[in-house]
Amino acid sequence: MSQKPATPLRLVVLISGNGSNLQAIIDEINNNDLPAQVVAVISNKAEAYGLERAKKANIQHHVLSNKDYSERSDYDAALKELIDSYQPDLIILAGFMRILSNEFVEHFSHKMMNIHPSLLPKHKGLNTHQRALDAGEKEHGCSVHFVTPELDDGPVILQAKTPVKDNDTAETLAARVHELEHRIYPQAIRLFAENKINQAE
Ligand code: GAR
Repeated sequence: MSQKPATPLRLVVLISGNGSNLQAIIDEINNNDLPAQVVAVISNKAEAYGLERAKKANIQHHVLSNKDYSERSDYDAALKELIDSYQPDLIILAGFMRILSNEFVEHFSHKMMNIHPSLLPKHKGLNTHQRALDAGEKEHGCSVHFVTPELDDGPVILQAKTPVKDNDTAETLAARVHELEHRIYPQAIRLFAENKINQAE
């Protein structure tokens, strides 16, 4: 029988929406011994379905609405304090749709990952699937990367690819990329937990 390490990695997961990546991480912890524990889920949107997923999994969850803060720096300071109260080893951005201030990002340097629906450095920002189609890409996919102050930048940890088919739409492509995301995000967390990522990158 495989044994979990005495101290599983403490994860805080930030979401804004559906939370299917959050679910993939919870499932990997429960079903495949990912040596980690989601200690809190934080959403900037009260209606995010990912909050329901956290509730069902008995995970502490919070809404920290950006609408309650007029300054980005104040929101980020409150978010930083809430995250720090959980003493996480790793912060997971899983569809957290906010630009983060430099100070916030630097505070969590090399401890914060993001998943982005494109083969970075291609197609940073929004509407990545349509933009991949418009650009006539032969392949598309997703990337897990460490977060640095530049949007959707930072050292790539893992990528997964899918061929673009002639009859693909943004929706069909998004569905395949989502499946890939659910595979590589838990893998990237496992690499981090096992100290197999070169932190000097
Ligand atoms: C995912 O496709 C993720 O790659 C994307 O948001 C979606 C969240 O889905 N993130 C970004 O675009 C960040 N730039 P989920 O809520 O079902 O996990």
